[in-house]
Amino acid sequence: MKSPIRIAVTGATGQICYNLLYRIAAGEMLGKDQPVILQLHDITEAQPLFDGIVMELYDCAFPLLSGIITTDNPEVAFNNADIVLLVGARPRGENMERKDLLAANSPIFIQNGRALNTAAKRNVKVLVVGNPANTNAYITIKNAPDLDPSNFSAMLRLDHNRALSQVALKLHVPVSDIKRMIVWGNHSNTQFPDLSHATVGNNSVSSLITDPAWIENYFIPVVQKRGTAIIEARRGKSSAASAANAIINHMQDWIFGTREGDWVSMGVPSNGSYDIPRGVIYSFPVTCQNGQYKIVEGLEISPSDREKMQKSYQELVTEQEAIKHLLA
Ligand code: NAD
Ligand code: LMR
Repeated sequence: MKSPIRIAVTGATGQICYNLLYRIAAGEMLGKDQPVILQLHDITEAQPLFDGIVMELYDCAFPLLSGIITTDNPEVAFNNADIVLLVGARPRGENMERKDLLAANSPIFIQNGRALNTAAKRNVKVLVVGNPANTNAYITIKNAPDLDPSNFSAMLRLDHNRALSQVALKLHVPVSDIKRMIVWGNHSNTQFPDLSHATVGNNSVSSLITDPAWIENYFIPVVQKRGTAIIEARRGKSSAASAANAIINHMQDWIFGTREGDWVSMGVPSNGSYDIPRGVIYSFPVTCQNGQYKIVEGLEISPSDREKMQKSYQELVTEQEAIKHLLA
């Protein structure tokens, strides 16, 4: 039997986590032979909500669940953690953009960064989900100076999956037949879902789309605005089941590696590729191997696509400016 992996999760009494914890404990993230210890964090006021969540975790009798910790102290939650999923944050409501959450949520990620710096394993893998995810990841990294920035990523996988599904529906092909999709930039409506490198078998996706206007007029805006559409359709609640699923997909690929001949979109610290200045947390196509991600280099980008990529970068700079005083 393998020794257990410690997975810390914040916002653990929230709606994403209600769709996530049971799947992790069932082995859907790390495999059916990997025991896990769940180290669950939420704020003090939310602690009573853990009662039902923990009762249900026990009632599932998961063979792989080796332990459960619940706490309102992030250092306790992150203690010796191998994987940390930073979900805890206020979600946006109707008529809000994700960046409107910066003021409310940045203090959470300052605290998370400091606690990670003190308590987590030095090779911990941290995924930032709480919005605005890219800038929250930036804040977390800046507050965890003893950890390598490559231990961190922000979640763009939901956008990536949304893009795959739209193409699958359009071309009537299984999602798994589509490779090399990209969502560039910020997890916001400036993101650039880019299917120009995507393939189905030996064909490029663009060559199979007979009405090219569909890309600009339907595909790109639908993917960019899907979060808002979900909030409207769910009467004010943001995506939870699909977000939990994206967390599992993201971590699986990061840990076990991406498919042969394929890549995924992850928000990672830029290394300067594609004229995106270093340090900003930007979504790139990446391949993963041996637990490390690597930005896919050298893709040909048209001038108009480069403009879209820069627009999302500029938004991230504006977000960073807005929180600069908090990092001083
Ligand atoms: P939710 O409101 O159901 O849960 C949020 C949880 O965070 C609650 O349990 C709350 O108690 C906790 N929380 C509040 N303040 C906290 C603090 N200071 N420290 C730690 N935890 C705190 O929200 P949700 O639907 O689970 O969404 C969580 C976050 O994930 C939101 O920011 C949402 O916008 C974001 N999200 C991101 C993506 C993505 O693709 N990156 C997708 C969906 C949702
Ligand atoms: C999403 O993309 O569904 C989430 O980030 C929630 C939101 O605010 O859109």
